[in-house]
Amino acid sequence: RREFLGIAAGAALAPLTRSAMAQQFVQFPDGFVWGTSTSSYQIEGAADADGRGPSVWDTFSRTPGKVLDGGTGDVAADHYNRYLEDVALMADAGLKAYRFSIAWPRIQPTGTGPANARGLDFYDRLTDALLRRGIEPWPCLYHWDLPQALQDRGGWGNRDIASWFADYAQIVAGRIGDRAKHWVMLNEPSVVAIFGHGVGGHAPDLRGRTNYCAAIHHQNLAQGRALAALRSAGGKDWQLGTVLSVQPVKPAPGPDSNRHAAAQWDAVWNRACLDPLFKGEYPDSLIADFKPLVKPGDMETIRQPIDFLGLNYYSRMHQVADPGGLFGTNFGPSPDGTKHTDMGWPIEPDGLYEQLIEFRDRYGNPPVYVTENGASYGDWVGPSGKAEDGARIFFIRDHLLACHRAIRDGADLRGYFVWTLLDNFEWGYGYTQHFGLVQVDRETMRRRPKASYYWYGDVAKANAVPL
Ligand code: NOJ
Repeated sequence: RREFLGIAAGAALAPLTRSAMAQQFVQFPDGFVWGTSTSSYQIEGAADADGRGPSVWDTFSRTPGKVLDGGTGDVAADHYNRYLEDVALMADAGLKAYRFSIAWPRIQPTGTGPANARGLDFYDRLTDALLRRGIEPWPCLYHWDLPQALQDRGGWGNRDIASWFADYAQIVAGRIGDRAKHWVMLNEPSVVAIFGHGVGGHAPDLRGRTNYCAAIHHQNLAQGRALAALRSAGGKDWQLGTVLSVQPVKPAPGPDSNRHAAAQWDAVWNRACLDPLFKGEYPDSLIADFKPLVKPGDMETIRQPIDFLGLNYYSRMHQVADPGGLFGTNFGPSPDGTKHTDMGWPIEPDGLYEQLIEFRDRYGNPPVYVTENGASYGDWVGPSGKAEDGARIFFIRDHLLACHRAIRDGADLRGYFVWTLLDNFEWGYGYTQHFGLVQVDRETMRRRPKASYYWYGDVAKANAVPL
């Protein structure tokens, strides 16, 4: 461990010279995209600025007891006011791509109707600032901050949301689509459906199998409608995709019923989004649940060609049978001896390899970008005045080596985005979990890059990962 830190943290400040250290690196293919990802509600703050309407996360986080430390996104990392500084951080690190999300309530404060020009202006300025510094903008249209006014009309439970979302997508693309080429429709629809609508814990904090199914189907439909709308409106050079959380699911050690639980959870978490998009069908075990929701033509709308799939990967899931859990399953323990991050999530870089190979074998080997991967860890400010986070460096390195192996074995993986640039609002955990490459002082908002920031920047510049 110490020896690796010697290379990574000690030498990290000097540019990596591959001639001197060739045998210690794995080289990525030319053109491999190195970036970071963030999301609007988690970093922007400025909750009332320039005509932004309230979102479901404002409502949820302002309700006492919902968020662990009582945190809200009112200020977050104040990125709305400090975006130039944040763009400079990315540029200085040598990163060439940035996935951020657009806050729907800034664009349409009540979710439908005319665009709020001042909200669009912010993303316009951000896009220009990124391009000026040589960073490709990768806007994501939805990362969980639904306008509250739409929730009041049923939110993802209301089928009409598919057209509301397609309208909103066209407004945004109409404004920055002359400069932004890579478009992400949704971020992790299964997580929205599971935690927001199935088991609770995320806004809008609904529960139950029926709410889960409605949220899945209407997100799938909205994604299909938006893809089709942008495809027909689109600039020829647009790359349209979406981002799914896909984590290989295993039975936790224990009774045989855990096997069935794992298969069922795989359907609920992974395949309820993957299969309709790629195959035009819901998984067999869920067909009866979705039947009342699926109208003629829906599956054709949902099954859209995409130019890339974004994969958010954190760990495998190890499921147990639990009659009280959603679809009879619940999270179980990871195998003995597994190490965990501060989120309590198992560290399983092989699961990332496994997932990329599964896309190769079961889903026609689509172009894939890892649009999120990263870890929550504490850090400490060392004698050098730098925030030290060696554990994060190991985590990212091991996952990048898994990516490299998958590319070698034929997976069409084209880029990697660390989650995340800045310490931020980690949903139900508030500000208690730190995923950033850069620390954010909660009092002063001062940014302090961590060792991982310098390390990752060197990786991006060298297009290579030290062993
Ligand atoms: C996935 C989500 O997209 C992101 O918002 C979240 O912060 C990370 N996972 C870490 O939990």
